[in-house]
Amino acid sequence: MSINYSEKIPNNVNLSEDRTLQRALEGWQPNFINWWDEIGPEGAEASDVYLRTAVSVDPAGWASFGHVKMRDYRWGIFLNPGQQDRKIHFGDHLGQDAWNDVPGEYRANLRRIIVTQGDTEPASVEQQRHLGLTAPSMYDLRNLYQINVEEGRHLWAMVYLLHKHFGRDGREEAEALLERRSGDADTPRILQAFNEATPDWLAFFMFTYFTDRDGKFQLCALAESAFEPLARTTKFMLTEEAHHMFVGESGISRVIQRTCQAMNEMKTDDVKKLRAAGVIDLPTVQRYLNFHFSVTIDLFGADESSNAATFYSTGLKGRYEEGKRTDDHQLRGQSYKVLEVVGGELKEKEVPMLNALNEVLRDDYIKDSVAGVGRWNKVIEKAGIPFKLTTPHKAFHRNIGALSGAKVSPEGRVVSQAEWDVKKNEWLPTAEDRAFVASLMGRVVEPGKFANWIAPPAMGINRQPVEFDYVRFA
Ligand SMILES: [Fe+2]
Ligand SMILES: [Fe+2]
Repeated sequence: MSINYSEKIPNNVNLSEDRTLQRALEGWQPNFINWWDEIGPEGAEASDVYLRTAVSVDPAGWASFGHVKMRDYRWGIFLNPGQQDRKIHFGDHLGQDAWNDVPGEYRANLRRIIVTQGDTEPASVEQQRHLGLTAPSMYDLRNLYQINVEEGRHLWAMVYLLHKHFGRDGREEAEALLERRSGDADTPRILQAFNEATPDWLAFFMFTYFTDRDGKFQLCALAESAFEPLARTTKFMLTEEAHHMFVGESGISRVIQRTCQAMNEMKTDDVKKLRAAGVIDLPTVQRYLNFHFSVTIDLFGADESSNAATFYSTGLKGRYEEGKRTDDHQLRGQSYKVLEVVGGELKEKEVPMLNALNEVLRDDYIKDSVAGVGRWNKVIEKAGIPFKLTTPHKAFHRNIGALSGAKVSPEGRVVSQAEWDVKKNEWLPTAEDRAFVASLMGRVVEPGKFANWIAPPAMGINRQPVEFDYVRFA
């Protein structure tokens, strides 16, 4: 069945005027829906969900809210307005006109960047597909579904670029994006953090806080790209990404708030007693944090990378807030410090900055992540509880780059294999932690009701009350 895109798919790219592109997307769309039906949110087919849908890129009002079935969500294609005569503002082509088409010599690298970004979008939907069955409230269920449909839209955003600018290769890549599966042994998703399970809501909130924030930093770096369509589409994706990180930050904050309340009522920090009371003890929150933080910072790639240098020098991918930086935006002859283990200690080593741009982005990400952890600590502090969450050292539990495989404590001390084996259960979630958290996961979906382990939010969505019927079940 064909679709009238100008009606069914909200867009600001004049889809109806480009017959070839329209046909390509018409061919892909049923496969996307099949993918959604097969591996999208479980048990949600009949529900009407109070979702926001992007309908324009107007900062004053880009979304409309209403109850819709997720399958009927209008996955639109939106690019931020182009800036007239935009110039490339970093790398070897600094000062030249930005590109509206893909330069032949950069085609392979650009395609790889777009595919890698695109692959994360459906992956997270797959990772989160079971969570609707154990939602702690109708409000949270709605937020999960909102994130799911927007990750679907982000996939559309990348597929649009592949179809529009990469011909047959692009169409093949767009199909492959629907064929890989998160966690599948034979056809896994491209990046490892997107093959990890998101088995429970504590993991989900950590994922949306930490891993969607990786998305923010990658999108910010791509928003600087010399390839205009990529820059414009990622700028708009960032608008949606903010909500995903809000869900994570406020979710963890509400978990902490509820735990602190129970600690004060019971006058105890005894993990056993708190668990028996059905709240998540703070040391378990810390271990989850350690896991999600370390797995996520691996996503930035190897600390030294000639690809990173190439992507930057050729203008494909900038730095975070490239435009606000005051250096020469070419970085030749400059250096940056990365870490390595020498003689049982972490040592800094100066390397050419161009080769260290993954590390530069990782360090920017870490600064941003730490700020939110500070806000969580304010909740604990306000409750008068002497406990502080910390972000682990960036060398802790790494699997990519020079630090991969090094045994380093969360404080940044290189430890022996023997010490690691003893302490890792204090540092990372244990099977027992996960089983305990899983035991709390029961579906609570009456409007205005919340599971015992999480506090209600301060306010609802789009000025609706907290007890609004965000999801109407059939
Ligand atoms: Fe996304
Ligand atoms: Fe996201």
